[in-house]
Amino acid sequence: MKKQVKNNVYWIGYIDWELKKFHGDEYSIHSGSSQNAYVIEEEKNVLIDTVWAPHRFEFVENLERELPLEKLDFIVANHGEIDHSGALQTIVEKRPDIPIYCTANAVKSLEGQYGKKNWNFHVVKTGDSVEIGNGKKLIFVEMKMLHWPDSMATYLTGDNILFSNDAFGQHYAVEELFNDKADPAVIEKEALKYYVNILNPFSSFVTRKIDEILKMNLPIDMICPSHGVIWAKDPLQIVKKYQKWALDEPEDRITIVYDSMWQGTEKLAHEMAHEIARQSPDTVVKVYNIAESDKNDVMVDVFRSKAIAVGSPTVGNDMLPAVAGWIAYLKSLKFKGKKAGAFGTYGWSGESVAKIKEALKGAGFDVIDEEVRVNWNPDREDYEKIPEMVEALLK
Ligand code: FEO
Repeated sequence: MKKQVKNNVYWIGYIDWELKKFHGDEYSIHSGSSQNAYVIEEEKNVLIDTVWAPHRFEFVENLERELPLEKLDFIVANHGEIDHSGALQTIVEKRPDIPIYCTANAVKSLEGQYGKKNWNFHVVKTGDSVEIGNGKKLIFVEMKMLHWPDSMATYLTGDNILFSNDAFGQHYAVEELFNDKADPAVIEKEALKYYVNILNPFSSFVTRKIDEILKMNLPIDMICPSHGVIWAKDPLQIVKKYQKWALDEPEDRITIVYDSMWQGTEKLAHEMAHEIARQSPDTVVKVYNIAESDKNDVMVDVFRSKAIAVGSPTVGNDMLPAVAGWIAYLKSLKFKGKKAGAFGTYGWSGESVAKIKEALKGAGFDVIDEEVRVNWNPDREDYEKIPEMVEALLK
């Protein structure tokens, strides 16, 4: 079923209530999600994006019910990733001549995934446009690295709608479509989680691209992303949030992340949290056993934090695998301007703290010298090392 967005613009995506994981198992989904595609029915009929491959047959069936494929004039493929291009092949099989407007990189991506089949690509760049009748046109804006090299946004004049694809999206299943009808707390939470886990590595591109779009002086009445709510009420609120998030300005918050075998490192983590509260009662502290926690949600706390402390006992001359894997993910998100410290227990060789510090340096953190490295279970003397490390993290 298509749903009206504005005038002759309709939503025709897939609401994914059942989704629990995204990008393989790499992104946890707590509030469902959606793949938003849109149909514009002016003198020209246009489809903007499609849905994820598992839903392609249902999507094309719905589309054909609303708009017979022979009446479709062209498709805009804002992004080649499979959650938006997954039904393209099914449509092209039925309409081999259909023009597909996309960036040069999207051609590479689509041909890489679906094969070189001589699809009728029309390569566009920022500022290129196409008339769709009734005085309206689509203007294309390359969105390189927001979040793939092929990403693009499409602006509809007259209705003043920006189809932003992944940018400004959230993993949130919303049958009622619009931001003013959905739960604002969930929107905020999911939009931030999406930014941290998908866009944070590209923050410098975010700032420059938003400046570029604002300089184009295009009135924006609505932002239609490819996941989650449509920004209908005060659409620029999410643009302002992206500008703020891209600045990497942390809060007065410290996040402690650890794994433990026999609770020695866990005791250090808890004592460190108490010590932070003693030295700086206004600082918000979060503690996570990373082997039991949702890594994407933990990253939101890291994003908000000015410093982190990471702990692990030594096992096999190294940190525990849950901590090592988490630091590898931490590195990929390219956080900047944050302090970090390491702690942990050991029985015999005791390499974990040094290895954590080395890994955190490699992940771009400003690692403090102070550490808490404890042989066997922590005792009173060991706890006395914690205030110095906390002081350095808070400084
Ligand atoms: Fe929603 Fe980059 O795909």
